[in-house]
Amino acid sequence: MRKLILLLPFLLLLNCKEQPALPTGLVTENAMVVSARVEASQIGSAILEKGGNAFDAMVAIEMALAVAYPFAGNLGGGGFMVYRKNNGDVGGIDYREKAPLSAHKDMYLDSLGNVVPDLSTKGATASGVPGTVAGVMEVYKKFGSLPLADLLSPAIKLAQRGVLVTEKQAKRLESYRENFIEVNGDSTKFAALFKQGDTIKYPALAKTLQKILEKGKDGFYKGEVAEKLAAFMQEKGGYITEEDLAKYEAKWRQPIIFNYKDLRIISMSPPSSGGVTINQILKMMEPYEVSDYGHNSAKTIQLFTEASRRAYADRNYYLGDPDFVDIPLDVILSDSYLKDRMQNFSFDKATLSSDVERGNVEIVESMETTHYSIVDSNGNAISATITLNGGYGSKLYVEELGFFMNNEMDDFSSKPGVPNMFGLIGADANSIAAEKRMLSSMTPTIVEKDGKLYMVVGTPGGSTIITAVTQTILNVYEFNLSMQDAVNAPRFHHQWLPDVVIFEPEGFSTTLKDELKSKGYIINEERTPIIGKVDAIRVLSDGRLEGGADKRGDDTAVGF
Ligand code: GLY
Repeated sequence: MRKLILLLPFLLLLNCKEQPALPTGLVTENAMVVSARVEASQIGSAILEKGGNAFDAMVAIEMALAVAYPFAGNLGGGGFMVYRKNNGDVGGIDYREKAPLSAHKDMYLDSLGNVVPDLSTKGATASGVPGTVAGVMEVYKKFGSLPLADLLSPAIKLAQRGVLVTEKQAKRLESYRENFIEVNGDSTKFAALFKQGDTIKYPALAKTLQKILEKGKDGFYKGEVAEKLAAFMQEKGGYITEEDLAKYEAKWRQPIIFNYKDLRIISMSPPSSGGVTINQILKMMEPYEVSDYGHNSAKTIQLFTEASRRAYADRNYYLGDPDFVDIPLDVILSDSYLKDRMQNFSFDKATLSSDVERGNVEIVESMETTHYSIVDSNGNAISATITLNGGYGSKLYVEELGFFMNNEMDDFSSKPGVPNMFGLIGADANSIAAEKRMLSSMTPTIVEKDGKLYMVVGTPGGSTIITAVTQTILNVYEFNLSMQDAVNAPRFHHQWLPDVVIFEPEGFSTTLKDELKSKGYIINEERTPIIGKVDAIRVLSDGRLEGGADKRGDDTAVGF
């Protein structure tokens, strides 16, 4: 008895450590949506409340984001979605943009073989064939339960009624204004100076959405909208034709599935690199007692950075569109390969990226893309990440149809060894070819624990998506943070090349950075960008849901 009393504080501590963190985000009993805009989260939650399933909500949210969040929500871009049904079935859909039929390997090179600046990033030449409408319509066809009118009408009404400009959005619109004018001329809708509190109406977009409501996928890829879009793209010097649009199909893909300790992680497969790369990073970290090192401690940062260094080197070399290249997934995801990859890791000293692979690139990081997470009342879960690539994509606004076009062609490697706008360098696996999909970093992810739904997570952030998603999972699982705290926690990033670690502005002390520097880590002191805007949902042990809506944006959790 005495012994037991003496042991009590220790047992309590142990027990405390095992108790999941109390929630600090929005908690709901039944269902939840977390997205970049309150309007989209509300529309999705209302669909769930009237009996729609997570797939119905996806259709409604994606169209609502196209209206409320033109920075990354879109009709002119693409995305990836991973789902887990309440019976445990999992799957994924790829509605990534494709290279047009006329595309070829050297299309962005000059006669001397050098990359022509801006061709793959700005204006009509930068756009791939959009996939968003095909993706959501395919999901609706397979899993939708409510009438399509119920799902699209809220976005149509929102476009007609208009969207309130937030403080963050006003700043963003102002910072891109010159680009909009450069690409579209000064009569473009976005040449206007928008202030916080203004309302932007999108009557042209409402009409395009109405066509989709009437004719489904064909309302976008055939007929009037397709004719107008192709004619517009040709007039602006781009490559997309009516044939490109008519041929576009979304593809169901088997997700990447792996175990990390007692978690089962389901994430997007190629042509997104997200699932493969988080699989590699987490498996390389798995043998270590990560939780003992402490959240964002020097040891945790070292281990994470070294695993990321090796995983991104593989990403850039091996990954591409699986319909065009053979990816040796069975090798690069095998335990023996990943164990071997970490053989030369030591906590004493940083590995040089030049010793992992060669290369020399500049990093230009940005926050494009957007993510939303859904759990419905029956426990079906959806994790979807969508993008135009750059903020407002190519900046090319199709005035008559009401949406921006993507600049996703820049996610191909225009020339092996030359970095894209995220500083990622690529190899032949990701070279351009007609109808090929460009490699992505988007990482929509669902996590199970003990066979049950545990977390739905994803983020924007270009090449930093992968590390932000991985750190969020570790924050909850290894460091016992609530969902909201895990999302808000400061993040860091390393991607093999350039050989630097970047840290967010807050949350990493000079002492910590000095310790890392003394071990040979190169810290990018000048660039301290925000990394990702994670939108996630955690299932609490009593079945309630906790939202994690990133404080870095206007992101909002809504549910009931
Ligand atoms: N365009 C960003 C990505 O797909 O990773």
